Amino acid sequence: MPYHSTMTSESRVALVTGGNRGIGFEICRQLAQTGVDVLLGARDLNKAKDAADLLAAEGISVTYRALDVTSAESVKDAVAGIERDKGRLEILINNAGVFLDKDGTAETIDLDRVRRTMETNVYGPILICQAVVPMMKKQGYGRIVNLASELASLTDMEGLYPAYRMSKTALNAYTRVLAQELSGTGILVNSMCPGWVKTEMGGPNAIREIEDSADTAIWLASLPDDGPNGGFFKDREPLPW
Ligand SMILES: NC(=O)c1ccc[n+]([C@@H]2O[C@H](COP(=O)([O-])OP(=O)(O)OC[C@H]3O[C@@H](n4cnc5c(N)ncnc54)[C@H](OP(=O)(O)O)[C@@H]3O)[C@@H](O)[C@H]2O)c1
Repeated sequence: MPYHSTMTSESRVALVTGGNRGIGFEICRQLAQTGVDVLLGARDLNKAKDAADLLAAEGISVTYRALDVTSAESVKDAVAGIERDKGRLEILINNAGVFLDKDGTAETIDLDRVRRTMETNVYGPILICQAVVPMMKKQGYGRIVNLASELASLTDMEGLYPAYRMSKTALNAYTRVLAQELSGTGILVNSMCPGWVKTEMGGPNAIREIEDSADTAIWLASLPDDGPNGGFFKDREPLPW
């Protein structure tokens, strides 16, 4: 029986990829604080456990799983485990990401670096969406949030970081296509930029604290049924494509 319109947030199950540190960790913390049943995914099981232990020390309970988004087998195992243990999944946060081109230009970028970036930032989210959408369709409910970046905006391509920019633009395209295909199923798919955040990726000069980076993800994860679908947001406001 579809239970989307009557479900309380307490009963929702969420998977967050790359949940062991940075923005993903903060999203896990804040989702769990709203009563969501959070599955913290990390490619290294020990890191996943350490992160869950850190939250437990704050009185926040999450479960954790090994999940390497670049491995089809790991994605399959993780989603099968969720189906077995929870029987459902309402929220997917595709947060895991890499930024491999601190140097390099579009003219010189090493193709291997582009491929490795695409594996994590684009093919990973695609694999996971393909694994969880059938479950969400059965439920008649789903919220998928893809962590893109302002650097993905085609209207603002100022050069540099070519692999990262192209990967996030491709992720945005996937968001749009999937959102259109799933229109009317109760599943909403959106992309977002968390701002420039003080994480390992963002570096110490970033302007946003980690605690302030999760708000838009939490908002998109809890959209009402008539919420936006196929959008791109920062601070809950639309961003140009
Ligand atoms: N920080 C910013 O300013 C900023 C701005 C715009 C967008 N974003 C996006 O926000 C997301 C989170 O960024 P962040 O700043 O928190 O980055 P971060 O501190 O570098 O953390 C990245 C996370 O992704 C995980 N990860 C990388 N490859 C993975 C894989 N193959 N499978 C599973 N997990 C993997 C990392 O796990 P390990 O610990 O195992 O490496 C880590 O947990 C990314 O998608 C990023 O592109 C960040």
